[in-house]
Amino acid sequence: MIQKQGCRRGALIVLEGMDRVGKTTQCKKLVEALCQCGHLAELLRFPERATEVGQLVDSYLAKRINLEDHTVHLLFSANRWEHVPLIKEKLNNGVTLVVDRYAFSGVAFTSAKENFSLEWCKQPDVGLPKPDLILFLQLSPMEASKRGDFGNERYENYSFQERVLHRFFQLMEDETLNWKVIDASKNIEDLHREIQSLSEDAIQEAQGETLTAWAALWEKDLKSVLLSSESYHHFRKQLKTYLFPR
Ligand SMILES: Nc1ncnc2c1ncn2[C@@H]1O[C@H](COP(=O)(O)OP(=O)(O)OP(=O)(O)O)[C@@H](O)[C@H]1O
Ligand SMILES: [Mg+2]
Repeated sequence: MIQKQGCRRGALIVLEGMDRVGKTTQCKKLVEALCQCGHLAELLRFPERATEVGQLVDSYLAKRINLEDHTVHLLFSANRWEHVPLIKEKLNNGVTLVVDRYAFSGVAFTSAKENFSLEWCKQPDVGLPKPDLILFLQLSPMEASKRGDFGNERYENYSFQERVLHRFFQLMEDETLNWKVIDASKNIEDLHREIQSLSEDAIQEAQGETLTAWAALWEKDLKSVLLSSESYHHFRKQLKTYLFPR
């Protein structure tokens, strides 16, 4: 089926999961299969290391530089935000984007560090384009580590990965998002068929939607921020009346 440009939007499909669960393998196969079926589909990955921000993140992950933990969290988020114009343009042009990691990895990894709350970690990504589908490839850290040793990149150790997994589970409790948990212990082809079928459904649904109404990720959090700025204005008004009574 060929999508008519300018009329129907593409779907934003995210693959998430711990290290080595098969995200990149499945993203590539999915894009290839969707294109073969006549869809417009492209691959995106985060971190996207090609930009200046991405280069900093890359150096940090490869342990060439050290960065303060909050700083690096914000850089990961900035790396996603700098791609938002491109993401919207592609989706508006009917291109389905298959994204290898998104804000959920960002939040799960930082919040697995000591003294970071899930709420704080989510804030910089509140308002990003909301995925139509998030496929969580589930595999125990033990199984994942068998698929090639953890390398030398930062975060690649067993106990940290367990804490990250716990954070992912907390993020999946959010029912405003379309999470689908996939058993990543299956073989590559079976997994691919399951992922393609779920993706086709998401593409179908996205096509029926208008292009202008962009859904925002973690919208509820966005509303609570807006609400608090409203109550701030209310508070200022009251303060003015108190300070300058007529
Ligand atoms: N379903 C599968 N069964 C067995 N091995 C797999 C499966 N999927 C991928 N692999 C192998 O596991 C390794 C990791 O796969 P891949 O790079 O796709 O994972 P990833 O989730 O993208 O990892 P990372 O988080 O490090 O980017 C590769 O050697 C790949 O060939
Ligand atoms: Mg990968």
